[in-house]
Amino acid sequence: MTTDYNIRPLEIDDFPAFLNIQREALLQAPEVFGSDYDWFEGLSVLSKEQRFEKYVNYPYQYLLGAVDVSGRIIGMIGYSGQEQMKLRHKGRLWGLFVLEEFRGQGIASKLIASLIETARDILEVEQIQLTVSTHNEASYGLYLRLGFAVYGTELRAMKVDNYYVDEYLMVKFLV
Ligand SMILES: CC(C)(COP(=O)(O)OP(=O)(O)OC[C@H]1O[C@@H](n2cnc3c(N)ncnc32)[C@H](O)[C@@H]1OP(=O)(O)O)[C@@H](O)C(=O)NCCC(=O)NCCS
Repeated sequence: MTTDYNIRPLEIDDFPAFLNIQREALLQAPEVFGSDYDWFEGLSVLSKEQRFEKYVNYPYQYLLGAVDVSGRIIGMIGYSGQEQMKLRHKGRLWGLFVLEEFRGQGIASKLIASLIETARDILEVEQIQLTVSTHNEASYGLYLRLGFAVYGTELRAMKVDNYYVDEYLMVKFLV
């Protein structure tokens, strides 16, 4: 399915739309996010909103959304910066997810490119790091194509139900 969308930082008013895509992501891609669907669903709306507010502190910590004309978020990505001087050169990319019916149209690539542009040009961040499951071929291939390289592997980084998930540690140097 194709649709018109804008890529923009999410704001407090996007909270209901964010809950919808986050629920979808936790259900469909349990290995992608550290938090667990049942645990997340058990939180009160207030604590979900408080968690969302923490993510929405552009440009230091933010969520970018691919948002369609109705306000639905069809893709998202998270960024976390570091406050301390010795760590300020590093940023972390997390939470990349595109709704299934909109995949294969370059939305994830655009979200990543936008995140990198902000990190490099506005925040003067020098490197972006991320982790990805070793068997997530779609994302791993995408990150490689966009210039990320593997610098390590964390064995048993997550335990989902009864199986372990290993993760590649990846970095892209921006300067
Ligand atoms: C990974 C994901 C974000 C890609 O989103 P997308 O909008 O379809 O990505 P793009 O359209 O920008 O395509 C990126 C590349 O991946 C390829 N790709 C997409 N889905 C693929 C799949 N299932 N298997 C192999 N390659 C795939 C595309 O062909 C494209 O490569 P190309 O440009 O060389 O043709 C999406 O599949 C997703 O949400 N997956 C579940 C969550 C997830 O794995 N998140 C990443 C966590 S690290």
